[in-house]
Amino acid sequence: MKNTAQTEPFLVIGNWKMNGTRELLHKFACDLETTAPAGCTQVLCLPSVIIPNAVDALADHNIEIGGQNCSSHPSGAFTGEVSSTMLVEAGAKWVIVGHSERRTGFSETDEEVNSKADAAITGGLVPIICVGECSADREDGRHLDVILDQLAASTPSNLQLGEAVIAYEPVWAIGSGKSASEDQVREAHDAIAAWLKENLVPLPVLYGGSVKPDSAADLAAIRNVDGFLVGGASLDPASFKGIGTVSSETLSKAQR
Ligand code: 13P
Repeated sequence: MKNTAQTEPFLVIGNWKMNGTRELLHKFACDLETTAPAGCTQVLCLPSVIIPNAVDALADHNIEIGGQNCSSHPSGAFTGEVSSTMLVEAGAKWVIVGHSERRTGFSETDEEVNSKADAAITGGLVPIICVGECSADREDGRHLDVILDQLAASTPSNLQLGEAVIAYEPVWAIGSGKSASEDQVREAHDAIAAWLKENLVPLPVLYGGSVKPDSAADLAAIRNVDGFLVGGASLDPASFKGIGTVSSETLSKAQR
């Protein structure tokens, strides 16, 4: 259970991955309240080409917009890449870096993730730096070592308070329909929070991996869970809204 005063908003961040249309943005604009659930900040991380559409469609809503990746370079001959300043110009405030789908599918290393986080901050974005073990790491009992090694190598050493967010996403829970257990989430989040406090600065730590409205209450109540990074359920306005509402209710009841 949470037992400290909650001062920062609980972050409910959707990652649409390679999904999303103007029609879906319109549906979100129609179905979502214009105000965020009490105590929550809502963010949608979108494919970069629809960010300006999202800014228009959701102009009346209390929803911030992010990208899903950015170049580690400010500009230049990098065909197909998008810089952090381009994302800012399109209307983004956030960007995901080092998602496991990019680490595995596009061979992104910790060092690249670190450079991307640095470039994001320089460009004016808040990077959401993702870490998380695969199932073999967990079966071998080395999940905490893997998570903390990734964290140490993927976070710029000069990070200041408020400049970034960490997302713990166990690879085996992503898209599986079943989130990690409360004990597994607690163990990982406590380890990440302790590492940050000792080695860097305290940063919010999100949980991601099959978060749904019906699992959000128990997960939001866990100490050191400061928000969610939501994939599949963020594509449905009712589910995305539900996760925020349930989290807000949980936070108001918990002794935080
Ligand atoms: P799911 O919520 O679909 O498991 O995806 C999690 C994720 O990868 C968010 O970045």
